[in-house]
Amino acid sequence: MQMGEELYSGKAKSVFSTDDPELYILHFRDDTSAFDGERVEQLSDKGKVNNIFNAFIMEKLAKKGIPTHFVKRLSDTDSLVKKLDMIPVECVVRNYAAGSLCRRYGIEEGISIDPPTFEFFLKNDALHDPIINDSHIISFGWAKAEHIEAMKTLTIKVNSILKKLFLEADMLLVDYKLEFGLSNGEITLGDEFSPDGCRIWDKSTRNKMDKDRFRQNLGNVIETYKEVGRRLGIDLD
Ligand code: ADP
Ligand code: TMP
Ligand code: ASP
Repeated sequence: MQMGEELYSGKAKSVFSTDDPELYILHFRDDTSAFDGERVEQLSDKGKVNNIFNAFIMEKLAKKGIPTHFVKRLSDTDSLVKKLDMIPVECVVRNYAAGSLCRRYGIEEGISIDPPTFEFFLKNDALHDPIINDSHIISFGWAKAEHIEAMKTLTIKVNSILKKLFLEADMLLVDYKLEFGLSNGEITLGDEFSPDGCRIWDKSTRNKMDKDRFRQNLGNVIETYKEVGRRLGIDLD
């Protein structure tokens, strides 16, 4: 697979064309951002850890019937994916209260949320990813009604698969963000699933094992991502 030109450089990954017009290469960099790109630092090994972690999760999800963009891992930091027409919304499911949900509604951090909540956010750093609803998505043409339903169904199905996976490894999947796009008209999971885009707590101590370690300056960010991987049986070396 021949790597072509860089089409886009985001906060943490770069997207490259390939010699196949239907395929892209995602290059995972060490850049780590918080607060919608306000703070960016390089954390050694992060690109590699997230790329390998993401490959493991995407393969698990595909085996359980989730349509994903993931084709294969090409190297420590690069993966081959299907080109998607990305939908500019983020789908968030929460099993425990944390982050913006607590700030928005005055909910106490850590309470169990049953049934889990589902939220859409607009993917727009300049506006700080505001929360939006189905009506906004349809009226402003960000996605069609049938695609909204498909994203909700798939995001909730991902929850049932991953909640169990993390729990069996003594971790709580607190919340996570997914991004979808269209491939031949079909809603397909894109982007990445890694400790950068979810919250994971140790089941007994509730120690934070995700990007909140970076956001809140708790230290040992990548060491803890590796511990999450080790517990799930992912070979990150
Ligand atoms: P951001 O754009 O939020 O800064 P990243 O640094 O992770 O995020 O950049 C990766 C970009 O690639 C994101 O904008 C994401 O929506 C986009 N993307 C992810 N998967 C695909 C795909 N399969 N096809 C096209 N674009 C994708
Ligand atoms: P929040 O509590 O800040 O709304 O975030 C909920 C979850 O979604 C958390 O795991 C972080 C993730 N997330 C991202 O990774 N990127 C984003 O832009 C947003 C809004 C959330
Ligand atoms: N993913 C967003 C960013 O990189 C939000 C966050 O992680 O706080 O800025």
